[in-house]
Amino acid sequence: MPEAPTSLMNQQLDALLYNETNLVTNLANASALINDTYEDLNWSGFYLYNEETDELDLGPFQGKVACMHIKNGNGVVGTAFNDQQIHRVANVHEFPGHIACDSASNSEIVVPITKDGKKIGVLDIDSPSLNRFTEDNETELAEFVKVLIQHID
Ligand code: SME
Repeated sequence: MPEAPTSLMNQQLDALLYNETNLVTNLANASALINDTYEDLNWSGFYLYNEETDELDLGPFQGKVACMHIKNGNGVVGTAFNDQQIHRVANVHEFPGHIACDSASNSEIVVPITKDGKKIGVLDIDSPSLNRFTEDNETELAEFVKVLIQHID
């Protein structure tokens, strides 16, 4: 049995996705939950890895229209996917190669999503404020992705 999620948002995610394994369905509501829970965001959503093109393709999200394809290794999204590390960027304008899909973004956090060794994509969240994302947010979002992959086949 997986451990119970520790934060209220992550408990809500676990309950919301109960008995649902459709990827798009789950990612759509997961992005809406983050958007409802976290203040001061301008974008929250997912990019999904496409092995054939070696790109990250736009998935379910909340926010303005966004870049549809990001090369593996490019921008914050592609960098986090490529090195499989969380990237919490206080000022995206100082991040080499940052991709400005929405000019309102000033800080960003990207969490890679991997299940049983298979690289699925990333969770990407943007804020118009500088340094919006805390270490506690990072811990919560890492757990959020752990809960999420339990509901993905
Ligand atoms: N800023 C991201 C691109 C995706 S949008 O923020 C939705 C990046 O540099 O990878």
